Amino acid sequence: MNLVEWIDNSRDQHLAELCEFLRIPSISAQSEHKPDIERGARWVADHLLSAGFNTVEIVPTNLHPLVYAESLEAPGQPTLLFYGHYDVQPPEPLELWTSPAFEPTVRNGNLFGRGTADDKGQVHIHLKALESLKKVNGKLPINVKVLIEGEEEVGSVSLWDYVKKNKAKLKADALVVSDTSMLARGVPSITYGLRGLNYYQIELTGPERDLHSGVYGGAVPNPLTILTELLAKLHDKNFRVTVPGFYDQVAKLSKAERKALNALPWKRKDFEKTVGAPGYCGEKGFTTVERLWTRPTLELNGMWGGYQGEGAKTVIPSKAFAKFSTRLVPNQDPKKIAQLVEKHIRKLLPKTVHCKFDVLSRGKPWAAPYHNPIFQKAQAALEKGFGKRAVFIREGGSIPFVTQMYDTFKVPCVLIGFGLPDENAHAPDEHMALENYFLGIKAIAHFYADLATR
Ligand code: BES
Ligand code: MN
Ligand code: MN
Repeated sequence: MNLVEWIDNSRDQHLAELCEFLRIPSISAQSEHKPDIERGARWVADHLLSAGFNTVEIVPTNLHPLVYAESLEAPGQPTLLFYGHYDVQPPEPLELWTSPAFEPTVRNGNLFGRGTADDKGQVHIHLKALESLKKVNGKLPINVKVLIEGEEEVGSVSLWDYVKKNKAKLKADALVVSDTSMLARGVPSITYGLRGLNYYQIELTGPERDLHSGVYGGAVPNPLTILTELLAKLHDKNFRVTVPGFYDQVAKLSKAERKALNALPWKRKDFEKTVGAPGYCGEKGFTTVERLWTRPTLELNGMWGGYQGEGAKTVIPSKAFAKFSTRLVPNQDPKKIAQLVEKHIRKLLPKTVHCKFDVLSRGKPWAAPYHNPIFQKAQAALEKGFGKRAVFIREGGSIPFVTQMYDTFKVPCVLIGFGLPDENAHAPDEHMALENYFLGIKAIAHFYADLATR
């Protein structure tokens, strides 16, 4: 049997096995799911073993274990490092799921469930492509190292330490990742840029304790009011971030890149359909694609304080909180940006409140040239799988490991995404198009096979 026949004949088995993986609620953010995280790591390790990897390790870290495997039985052939994550985002709000988050269900050619697109479905594409190559040819055509972590959705906190301690082990000719999206249905895509992410939390304290708003209101600072005033000042009318120096290090797009990005088959109609807002806004002077992929932002992610229960409670809260983040682009420095943001916020605040400012995580942006021949091989493999020419895109999301690997080894990072922008990653009813899952296995199998220099 040849490779494509083998993959075609294994469709039912592949899908059933993916569903088994998806049923493990490996939620990295919630400590009560620690046993499920452990099960997730075990599942990945077991399936790497059955895919033919002879060295497979579950590596404990300060938080969640990562899985490392290698198959180095192709002397003289290139060595690839494949990276992905087995952890998933929390499924809440549960009531908004059509079918339960951890009971994978097929509807209209889509597989629904937490982790389908981000990232278990995409990891499974590689596991099955590699296993198919091994089953059909008896051995893998190239050398492959695999690193599947369990902390990506909480910022890959332990990973950097592991990378630093295992540089020789992780060395490879290229990094391959499938944890991004396609530009649109039927448009296979290779991502060459991601934004970085800094995450912040602030806590404002006014009165030492909660107060009766009738007895004290009018004569004391209200931290909720002060918080909203502060947050409203972080953007100007043109949707630019007001933090002084925020844009100083931002690299200007070259004319050629700007032209190429704006010429992609990106459809405003699809974008608006997915978002479903009554109207749109963004930084003045830039197209939507530029805003999403090449411009830095500051977004509020949550704010709370005071009374939120049923009915009325007349209270002036002692404290008010907000979580917010900045997405960064080349050549912004996360450390510098965090300092600028804190300085600006402290300057804007009146003396009537105390502010606790925390930086929860920091991450660098990444964008790299794609002229290494491996990118053309990836493009050709995608064309074999999807019958369409792949495009080169940037994206607005962040994957800390990609930046770390690129900075450490300066190797080409090939990001081949099989998700779609409307597949509800991080939201209820996350799903993946089965078409992309099955075509993905074929394309990736071709990619690994074609990397061998016969
Ligand atoms: N797979 C995503 C990142 C992504 C999604 C990149 C779509 C490009 C397109 C990843 O799992 C993720 O969600 N990353 C987080 C960052 C992390 C530090 C929590 C993000 O981008 O918010
Ligand atoms: Mn992901
Ligand atoms: Mn994610």
